[in-house]
Amino acid sequence: MLRFALALSLLTGLISTYPATAAEIKQPATAAHTLPALPYAYEALNPAIDTETMQIHHQKHHQAYVNNLNQAIAGTHAAHLSLEALLAEVSKWPDAVRNNAGGHWNHSFFWQSLTPPASYKAPQGELKAAIEKQFGSLEKFQQQFDAAGLKRFGSGWVWLIRKNDGTLAITSTPNQDNPLMDVVTEKGTPLLGCDLWEHAYYLRYQNRRGDYLKAFWQIVNWPQVEARFAK
Ligand SMILES: [Fe+2]
Repeated sequence: MLRFALALSLLTGLISTYPATAAEIKQPATAAHTLPALPYAYEALNPAIDTETMQIHHQKHHQAYVNNLNQAIAGTHAAHLSLEALLAEVSKWPDAVRNNAGGHWNHSFFWQSLTPPASYKAPQGELKAAIEKQFGSLEKFQQQFDAAGLKRFGSGWVWLIRKNDGTLAITSTPNQDNPLMDVVTEKGTPLLGCDLWEHAYYLRYQNRRGDYLKAFWQIVNWPQVEARFAK
């Protein structure tokens, strides 16, 4: 009886100091996904990507993926998974989770993949050697990457990935899919990705996706790609 009274008083105290429902107390609280800050200013990628595109892309598009993801997973087991763990089993969840979890991960990855043109450094070391071994040269790699990006019909992404056998490959995914998802045919560790949605380039380049891809190479954060490759 004493134990019961103690437990009751503890529970009462918990409820009074923490305004959560009983259902929330049973499960550990999980922080909602949030929009990451850009690692540079909105204007920093000019002239490759203009300021207004960056503002809309980050504040509107990426924020919407975050909001819609939180809404889609609220009250489900998915709310207790890391973003990567969710992508790895995304086939179990509705399309709203697939699209918005992908959108959130892809854009967070994309921002980190870019750097202001003045800070650009060409690839070097083991990554450079691996690219030359796989594709012949950096130029040939870029040509194949661009070709895959131009071939992607509609919206999607083009990727450089490291496959499970350790070799490099260029892949492309539709919509907000990515190589970490269990639903894609070509899986691997993303090293570099380029957003092919028109919202990424239309204000400056209109329908000229090829020009946008050409500019993309002026702002790739190769040291970041090398760090991913070294993991
Ligand atoms: Fe985008």
